[in-house]
Amino acid sequence: MSPDLKPAHLPGLQAPIILAIETSCDETAVAILAAGRDLLASEIASQAAMHAEFGGVVPEVASRSHLTQLQPLIARALFTAGLRVDQIDAFAATSGPGLATSLMVGVSAAKGLAISLRKPFLAVNHLEGHLLSPFFGREIRPSVGLVVSGGHTLLIELEAPGRYRLLGQTQDDAAGEAFDKVGKLLGLPYPGGPQVDRFAREGDPARFDFPRSMIHSGDFKFSFSGLKTAVRYLLPKLFESRFGGVPLPQGVLEKEAPRELRDLCASFQEAVVEVLVAKTIAAARATGRGLVTVSGGVSCNSRLREKFAEVCARESVELLIAESQLSTDNAAMIAFVASEKLRRGESSALTEDIDPNLRLVA
Ligand code: KG4
Ligand code: ZN
Repeated sequence: MSPDLKPAHLPGLQAPIILAIETSCDETAVAILAAGRDLLASEIASQAAMHAEFGGVVPEVASRSHLTQLQPLIARALFTAGLRVDQIDAFAATSGPGLATSLMVGVSAAKGLAISLRKPFLAVNHLEGHLLSPFFGREIRPSVGLVVSGGHTLLIELEAPGRYRLLGQTQDDAAGEAFDKVGKLLGLPYPGGPQVDRFAREGDPARFDFPRSMIHSGDFKFSFSGLKTAVRYLLPKLFESRFGGVPLPQGVLEKEAPRELRDLCASFQEAVVEVLVAKTIAAARATGRGLVTVSGGVSCNSRLREKFAEVCARESVELLIAESQLSTDNAAMIAFVASEKLRRGESSALTEDIDPNLRLVA
């Protein structure tokens, strides 16, 4: 399909104008981006409250919610941008990795719009969305990128847009998953990451000595499941007599917020952060890249941001972290990748399917 990228009817706005859809997990999101830098709309409908009652994402609930949320969200994004749908130059959607039935909703909608309006369709890798999000609206430069989300923990060398080398990834749980599992053990509402971060701010990170798994492994692999197990074993010693079992009853610690809880959150968080920062800096040294990026939901973590800033300054490495709205799942990052692809003359075939296990690097 040859992209038709001349919106002559839109004075002041530069082509291409891309409408992107993100439905890979529990956020329904739609964004409209002009010229790869002007974000005209970024709408997000979070399902977190819906899944909180189950303590995690329920795929069936997620896909049904995407189905009902998506159309009104597209209408709202167009309204916010002040555009009609026929003024969009290309339609993009996340095609993987993620939940199959959720991915299908976004990809089918984007394909339908592309077919009916005879515009290009672009399938975007969710991980590429996260990886490039720190460069949103600016030039993409060679770097080492840490992607830390609820589903992934990856270290990637970015040579150029579209040219990536996998340096290492987690062997078991993702960093965000570890935060969420610990949150669940503590009876905190889903997702646990932001809650653990909140309690950790008032805690002592040196109180409990949790393992720094694989920190001296000499490679760029990660492991977080042992750390979660260490928390699992410590918890009964601290709280069982008071609350009668682990996982602790939902909400009980939130009301009491005892000193041990804050210290446990701070010590756990410190162990995760220390490993993430140490391996990323080692990767920058090993590859000779002078720029480090951090992206994905866990990059919102206050201690991670603080420690990266501190260590990068000491090591004279430049640091780029996307603002928080671009760090957790959103469609603006998907539109940004799509606009990069269009710039390189790429678009996707309408036969391109979703892939729940899509990889960033083959
Ligand atoms: O990128 P994202 O929105 O979705 C995935 O692609 O997974 O990341 C969500 C993850 C969740 O595990 C959530 O607990 C974590 O990011 N997260 C945090 C913080 N904010 C979000 N983890 C630690 N500290 C935070 N402040
Ligand atoms: Zn994500």
